[in-house]
Order: sequence, then C-alpha cells, then structure tokens
Amino acid sequence: MAKRRKVKRIGILTAGGDCPGLNAVIRAVVKPAVEMGIEVIGFKDGYSGLMFNKWKKLDGHDVSGILVQGGTILGTSNKDNPFRQPFKDSRTGKVYYKDLSDDVVRTYKRLKLDALICIGGDGTQTVSSKLVEKGLNIVGVPKTIDNDLVGTDMTFGFDSAMTTATEAIDKLHTTAQSHHRVMVLEVMGRYAGWIALSSGLAGGGDIIIIPEIPYDINSVCAKVRERSRKGKRFSIVVVAEGARPKGGGLVVKEVIKDSPDPIRLGGIGNKLGKDIEERTGLETRVTILGHIQRGGTPTPFDRILATRFGIAALELVRNGDFGKMVCLRNGKMASISLEKVGGKVRTVPKNCEMIKAARMIGICLGD
Ligand code: F6P
Repeated sequence: MAKRRKVKRIGILTAGGDCPGLNAVIRAVVKPAVEMGIEVIGFKDGYSGLMFNKWKKLDGHDVSGILVQGGTILGTSNKDNPFRQPFKDSRTGKVYYKDLSDDVVRTYKRLKLDALICIGGDGTQTVSSKLVEKGLNIVGVPKTIDNDLVGTDMTFGFDSAMTTATEAIDKLHTTAQSHHRVMVLEVMGRYAGWIALSSGLAGGGDIIIIPEIPYDINSVCAKVRERSRKGKRFSIVVVAEGARPKGGGLVVKEVIKDSPDPIRLGGIGNKLGKDIEERTGLETRVTILGHIQRGGTPTPFDRILATRFGIAALELVRNGDFGKMVCLRNGKMASISLEKVGGKVRTVPKNCEMIKAARMIGICLGD
C-alpha cells in the first residue's frame, strides 16, 4: 500500500461548462476529508477563484443535501485561463490578455494547500497540467456531458445529458406520430457524437447523424422516403451539433472571442431540417435541445460515478500521487497522467459496437 502523507488542507474547484454531478464530487471529497481532519477550501468560479482569491471553507453543512442538485455550489466559468486571462479595456472596449499563473501559485502557497482537486473537462485538465509544471500538487476529475475526454472510459455528466436527450426523443415521437412529421433533434457534444449516438439508440431514432460520420443528404432523405413508403408516416432524426455534410463544414453558432475554446457549435439541425423538407416534401420540425442537457439533477449512474471519482481523487491526494486525473477503466477507478489528457478529443470510434448495433437494427447513420 502507498505511504500516506499528512494532509492538512486541500483546495477544490469546478471549471469549464457545468454538468449534473459536480456537487456529488464535491460532497464525496468534503465528507470524508472533514472526518479525517483535512480542511477543504472551495474556490469560486473555477480558476478565477485561485487567481482573484475568492474562496470559502467547506464543511459538512455546505455539502449536505447537494448530491441530487445539478450545477455546482462553487460556481464555474469556461472563460478563465490563468495562463491567458482576458480583460476588457474599459475605455476602448478591447480585450487584452495577461498571464496570472503566478497569482494562482501565490494563492495556493498563501493558503498553505497540500493539494488541489480540479474538476473539469479538456480545458481544465490542460490548465491543471501546466500548473503541475509550476509546482502545484494537482489531481484532476473528469467532467463533461460530451464524454469526449481521453484517458477515461466515461466522464460524469454524460449519462444525465444522454437521459435528457432520450426523454426529448420519446416526447418528439408522440407529436411526430400525430402530425406525420419529420422531427429533427439537435443535441450537444462538440466534436464527438456520444450524446447523439447513445440517445438516438436509446430513444429509437430512425436516423442518427454524428460528427465522426459526415452525412449525405440523399441517404438521409432516402431513409425518410423509405419509411413513408412502408407506411411509417413520421421519422425521428437525431443530429449532433458537430455533424457536417460530406464535403461541407461545421455550422458555427457563435465565436466567443475571450473564451479559451471560442467556437460554439449549433444550427446544423436547422440546415438538415430545411434540406429534408425541401427534398422530401414532408413537413419537418426542428428542436435544438441546448443547455437543458446540462441542467437538472444527475441520474443515479452519474451520482455514483461522481461519488467514486471524488473518493478516488481524495485517495490520490492522501497517497501523494499528484499530476494525475482519476478515471474509469474497465469498470474500475484508475488514474492517468494529466499530461496525456489535455488538448485531445475522444471521438466515437468507427468500429464502435454501438454503431454496428445501430446499423443492424436499420438505423440510418447518414452515410
Ligand atoms: O462542453 C459542454 C458543452 O455543453 C458542449 O456540448 C457545447 O458545445 C458547449 O459546452 C456550450 O458551451 P456554452 O455553455 O459556453 O454555450
């Protein structure tokens, strides 16, 4: 067994886009830590709390009853980056950037932290890895509804988002059947199709379009027409926000200049819906599910996964095993070096068993 360190005080933060299960991780760290006599400092709004010294001490009362709450009691931000923090010049309105990573190190030292637990996705783990190089003892916890983080078989938040998307497909089915319409549902996921593929399978979608398989509009329309011919007078199309037609580009909703990840995808559902209606003559409606997928209470699966991640992160801290992210590997808790995680995207592999299953039951993947 690894030799335990004497840990007196640790910090914890949630960064990047929120998702259901963040509070479950915080609770799983704070509850046992308090019992062990470890003080926990909760930084507010992601790395912003470390840069600008915004924090509060967390005890048992703070985490009581938060297991089922969506969001994060600490607040989060997907704009802050200690290595390139954006500021707005009040006179000119121009955005300029400053490296505030030394302020982060100062806060960490002033508070006499033994370690810091950073809960976040790709961007968060990238920043954490750079802060490790500056001497901070960091342990990462993998979060994101997109399930696109490398190094873990699954992130928490994904199951909840997938469940919300599945419920939306179930609801679209009844109205699609009544009106004999084509219903297009656009779901999130950035450049990976995990939410679309999983919810599409779970909800019985007829056509599932993911970023990993560029689609041919002719194949999509052929599937819709075939269903009509067979007397199925409605079709459900699930499309990932990062999907694109063969030979075509991504549909970008917005470019947020001062964000470390400035591209916001969105709108492919509208394009697809318009193209289907024009080509098939069938009435088509589009739903863009949006941030509903990030909200609400976590599913039981996510509550358990988040709790396991929190406990595993505290274990790494107590073992002095820093510079790592906890992960799920073959059903068990494990860890991976932070260096190996950041700056990459875990997309759906072409030979993914779910893709095969979808094809076998007649779902069109647009190719
Ligand atoms: O990464 C999570 C996610 O919800 C993506 O699925 C989506 O593309 C993006 O964040 C939306 O970001 P924002 O909350 O900044 O609009």
